[in-house]
Amino acid sequence: MRHLLESRLSALLSCLALGLVFALLPDSASAQSLPQDENFADSGGTFSNFQPNGPTSETTAFFSSLGTNGRTCETCHQPGDAFGLSISDITTTFNTTGGTDPLFAAVDGADCVDQPNSHNMLLNHGLIRVMLPIAPKTFAGNVPNFTVTVTNDPTNCQLNNPNVQAACVAQFGAGAQCISVYRRPLPATNLPFASVLMWDGRQPSPATRGLTAGINGVATNAVRVHEQGTKNPTSAQLSQISTFLAGLYTSQETDNNAGALNGNGATESAETMPSTPFSFGENEVSSTGTGGFPNFNSNVFTFFSAWSSLTGTDPVSLAQESIARGENIFNNTTFRAGPSPKDVSTCSACHNAFNVGTNSDNPVLFAHQGSDSPNDPTLQPGSYLPTFIVTCNGKTSGTATTDPGRALIDGNCGDVEKIKIPTLHGLLARPPFFHNGSAATLATLVKFYNNRENIGLTSQQQTDLTNFLGAL
Ligand code: HEC
Ligand code: HEC
Repeated sequence: MRHLLESRLSALLSCLALGLVFALLPDSASAQSLPQDENFADSGGTFSNFQPNGPTSETTAFFSSLGTNGRTCETCHQPGDAFGLSISDITTTFNTTGGTDPLFAAVDGADCVDQPNSHNMLLNHGLIRVMLPIAPKTFAGNVPNFTVTVTNDPTNCQLNNPNVQAACVAQFGAGAQCISVYRRPLPATNLPFASVLMWDGRQPSPATRGLTAGINGVATNAVRVHEQGTKNPTSAQLSQISTFLAGLYTSQETDNNAGALNGNGATESAETMPSTPFSFGENEVSSTGTGGFPNFNSNVFTFFSAWSSLTGTDPVSLAQESIARGENIFNNTTFRAGPSPKDVSTCSACHNAFNVGTNSDNPVLFAHQGSDSPNDPTLQPGSYLPTFIVTCNGKTSGTATTDPGRALIDGNCGDVEKIKIPTLHGLLARPPFFHNGSAATLATLVKFYNNRENIGLTSQQQTDLTNFLGAL
């Protein structure tokens, strides 16, 4: 709520300065609604949240405290952060409330449940603690075919902390053993393009169960865990949340250097997102057949293709040309993503939902893209996150990882470190990036991919790709 109130307050003040008191005051009731189309500044320009079905009252369930700790969904999914949560907002909230905002509740807003005053993970990396069982069964009730040991425990919040294990038993039943992983809030927008929900897909999949069932699952769990609710949300509350989230779209609108992202022939805008076609299986790489991906169209993003033929040398043209080159790199620059010559990839191979960048494969692809390798030279996630060794049954050595990912849900050792492929819209509104917050900026994220996959991008090409991502 605070972000909205702040931005509207400053609008009020500037109107007052202009003497528009009477024009504005009768309208104050509208401060109770999230507008149909709302623009915010971010570090690259402006982005917009758009609701094709009209404004949503802020007395509805998404904006209401449904548990016991004062949090709402909006606490971690802020309109001004593209329905994610940026570190700059976390810091401001901490400083203005002396750390008393419900965001910092010990349950998962502190480094560990028994350390209510330690918030290194949230303040410095934007991370919420997520407690998940590894024995005797996973969150989804599967028996894991691997064991987990902890080799680095910077928050003292793993298997040998009795307070964590007591909370684990309370949540998952007698005999359960839990680890703590630390994850970024996913943006609760553009959900009609999501095949799975949560980084590890642990909630009902929209692809198989429908979006309403998926959102209801997420919301019920969020009320019980994040909001420490003692009872489930009512069906009327769930309906308010799913109606709101199923009709919410976010996209960058303007770029400080390139201007309107739907100008001069370009076509990107939050207002056109609702009519972006999407279907599960629309652009698959899973059905590989022989020799590559016969059903795959690599031209996933097409917003800026009109800018690729520009030749101007004025600053606006140069900025538009850079974004267009970045779009082309994303779609068409190939690299070897695995040991076999067949393992040729593009950015767009995984991020293959047209003009959105989620994954459209049916069944959905969870990908192992390397952000959890503790010693990755660019990201170094092991420098602040716990490190786990996951050893498949029957093997003597295991994989070191900062988050076992999908394997924590399906119990399958082959899925260690696999994570869902997220939407790429509204990125600049909600740094840092990756589920573990390991890329502070888009430039770092691009450097990571370039190094890890040996893509061989020049520094100009890296800048182009960074500019393109920031324009989404
Ligand atoms: C304390 C912070 C916090 C609160 C409060 C919170 N969330 Fe979240 N939300 C998260 C985090 C963290 C994730 C990702 C967790 C994961 O994947 O393990 C997430 C994920 C989601 C997703 C998944 C999006 C996707 O693309 O998969 C949705 C939807 C969502 N939350 C909706 C809600 C709703 C609705 C509420 C209120 C009932 C809520 N959240 C309350 C932190 C929060
Ligand atoms: C093998 C599949 C795969 C390929 C290829 C791939 N990605 Fe990703 N991408 C992912 C996954 C999985 C995530 C989530 C990882 C995480 O959160 O740690 C992700 C996350 C991202 C994010 C961050 C989104 C966020 O909200 O934090 C961006 C931006 C991104 N990728 C851009 C790219 C670019 C640019 C390329 C090409 C250089 C690329 N990806 C290639 C799978 C892939």
